Order: sequence, then C-alpha cells, then structure tokens
Amino acid sequence: MKVVLIGSGGREHAIAYKIAQSKKLEKLFIIPGNPGTKNFGENVQLDIKDHDSIIGFCKENKIDLVVVGPEQPLIEGIADKFSAEGIKVFGPSRNAARIEGEKSFAKNLMKEYGVPTADYKTFLKEEYFDSLEYLKNSKLPIVIKADGIAAGKGVIVAETFGQAKNAVEDCFVHSAFGSSGNKVVIEEFMTGQEASIFAITDGTEYILLPAAQDHKRILDGDNGKNTGGMGAYAPTPFVDDSILKITTQKIIEPVLKALRESESNFVGCLYCGLMLTNEGPKVVEFNCRFGDPETQVVLPLLDGDLLELFYSAACGSINKNAVKYNGGASVCVVAAAKGYPDSYEKGKVITGINETESNEIIVYHAGTMETEGRLLTNGGRVFGVTSVVRTNDLKLAKEKSYTALSKINFDGIYYRKDISDKALK
Ligand code: AMP
Ligand code: GLY
Repeated sequence: MKVVLIGSGGREHAIAYKIAQSKKLEKLFIIPGNPGTKNFGENVQLDIKDHDSIIGFCKENKIDLVVVGPEQPLIEGIADKFSAEGIKVFGPSRNAARIEGEKSFAKNLMKEYGVPTADYKTFLKEEYFDSLEYLKNSKLPIVIKADGIAAGKGVIVAETFGQAKNAVEDCFVHSAFGSSGNKVVIEEFMTGQEASIFAITDGTEYILLPAAQDHKRILDGDNGKNTGGMGAYAPTPFVDDSILKITTQKIIEPVLKALRESESNFVGCLYCGLMLTNEGPKVVEFNCRFGDPETQVVLPLLDGDLLELFYSAACGSINKNAVKYNGGASVCVVAAAKGYPDSYEKGKVITGINETESNEIIVYHAGTMETEGRLLTNGGRVFGVTSVVRTNDLKLAKEKSYTALSKINFDGIYYRKDISDKALK
C-alpha cells in the first residue's frame, strides 16, 4: 500500500512510526512531516491548507490510503474531497468532524441521545446581554467555550463573574477567536480525573485503544496556563472495566449512532475526552482525530498492524483484530521552549536525541527543524520523550523517560517533572 499521512507534529511522528511497521506498507509519504517522520517515509513539502495540491499528489502517486492527523483539514472537508476522487481516507467527513468543530453541535447531539456531559446553554453574538444575565445567575466556577476551534485557547474556566464576563466579551465583542467565537457554549464546571479514550471506527463497529491521561497545564500539579499538552501516560488506572463499560454503553455507542442518524457517519478516530465525576464519566469534549500527546503513548503499546486497522475502517469494515494491547506502560514528557505557551524563541541547537533513543525510548519530534545537519528548535512544544516498557510498571516507565530526557538539551528547555504522578499516588 502507498500511504499519505497529513500533519507535522508529535502525533504524526507516532503514527508514522507505527504505520512503518506494517508489512502491507510499500511507501509512506508525510505531508509535510518533520525531521522525525523522515526516518519512516518521505516528507513532502506541500501546504496542508492546499487541499487541491494534496489531492493532485495522491492521484499522481496512486495513493491507496490517506490518514489525516490534525482536525483543521477534516473540519474544512478534506475527507469529502478524497472520497469524491475515490481515494480511501481514514478521517471523518466535514459533517462528522462537526463533533469537534462545532461544540454546540456536539452538545446538542449528546443532549438528544442522553449522553452524560456538563449542563450547558448556547448563546449567539446577538444574545450577548442574555449571556451576561445567565452568568449572573450561574454557579461558579463556570466554563465558557468558543463554539468553533480556537487552537486550544477557546476554553476558559472562570472563577469569578468578572472572568466569565471577560471571556464572553473576548468572543462577542473583541472577536478574539474570529468567527469561532460568534457562538458560545456556557457550561457547568465538572470535577474529577480526566481521561482520553480513542475509539477507532468505521462508523458502526469500533475498537477502543488503552485509555490515556493528558497533562494540559504548563506547571507541575496542573497549575498555570493551558497548553497543547505537556505530557501523557497510558494506560491510566482511573479508567477501570466498569468505567469502560459505561463509556461504551452511554457515550461511544449512542454518539456513533447519533452521528449515523444525522448523516454524519464517523470514520476515523473519535477522541473522547472524559471527566470521571462522582456521578460517573461525562464528556468534556470530542475530537475528530487522535490526541496529542496521548497518541505518542497509546500507539507504541499496540501489537499488530495499525495500517490494516486504518485501511479496514476506511473501507467501511473495520478489522477489530488488527491491533491489540497486550500489556505495557508508556510515559511521554514534552520538552517545551522557555516562555511557552506565550512567546518563545526558536532556533536553539538540540543535542543528545540520537544518543538516547533505544528499544524503550522514542523521541517524537514536534517543533524541530534541521538546518545544515543540525537539529534546531522550531516551535513551542519541541519534542516528546516517550518510554515504552513491556510490563505494567508505570513508575519504571516514568523513570526511563526522565532519565532519557536529562541527556537531551537545548537552551531554555522546560518540562514538567510530574507526568504520570497522579496515577502513581
Ligand atoms: P477542551 O479544549 O474542551 O479540551 O478544554 C480544555 C480543558 O478545559 C479540559 O481538558 C478541561 O481540563 C477543562 N474543561 C473543559 N470543560 C470543562 C468543564 N465543563 N468542567 C471542568 N473543566 C473543563
Ligand atoms: N491532548 C488534547 C488534544 O489532543 O486535544
């Protein structure tokens, strides 16, 4: 099979790593890829916003399967364009991607099908004053969400009425999130452990991959600003068999059904972000693609053929036995540039990566670039050091990641020291 993978982050590096192990693979192209993905295929420098050029490339190279990493092209409808050209694609249609792209769509769908999630109300820009009135009468903290995608910045947990008002004003008055903020969802604040579960599906049948836990805040102890994810581990002990059963029966199955019934059959990876509350698991958000950095810990734990899984799902008849989790633990610690998630410098020389990689350590590139044979920082989240141990020893996995990370360096390197600690306590 000739395969195109779209994206350039740590998530795509992890997907490329795993697809490259498939016996069915003839050639992998990554558009545009990163310095890590080029070890598993050919990086092709096309703009991921330029759908026509990507489709042209796929037709020219007789591509059998396209795997789409990030949400943006899916929300823009790239999967529909591939399908129209007869090219198989692992990733949902524009309609189905609304589960991530329009929070109000996801919330209304959940309400209609009785899927447990936070209570909420949606407001349009012209209902600005109503939204303030609603906030005045709401319990604090409260969560304000821009309806559309906002590069991970559209969710504000407000502790005071003032903060909540500012968040709504950012959306409606200052247009801080562009058209994504023309509608807001105001929802009840939930407490509990968070978990991420990936359902790989052909729209009807599905398999669940081991549950992971992300660490979204910049500082240890889940303090400070929200980021794109500072680390993850899998499997998380917070998702036991009983939670998994409720999740499949009350969340995954009804949502796949709801999507089918609203002409939005979902093919790909349905990312289910859960809050494990005292009342049971509730949905925080759905994403229409794999999570980052959760993918970096979930995929290395799988035995089997990921390409077969993706291809069979894309063909409408998922092979549920294509991959299997047979035990093991994984911890990914993200190394960020000083200043991230605010402004940060680029172009710092990275040392030590090649020397640390082994059977048990994978360094997934995210914000790196290569110039004249040197590896330089080129983003806020630079790379993720991932350990994979074959026993269910999370503590050992954590130690291995941090030991490896201590040997890698660049000017201004920052990382959290407590990835996976919640599970170890
Ligand atoms: P999202 O972008 O929807 O993943 O939200 C970012 C983060 O905000 C989540 O990972 C949660 O930590 C937090 N969050 C979102 N919605 C809620 C909620 N209703 N209650 C508590 N925390 C939330
Ligand atoms: N790790 C969170 C996300 O991928 O959205």
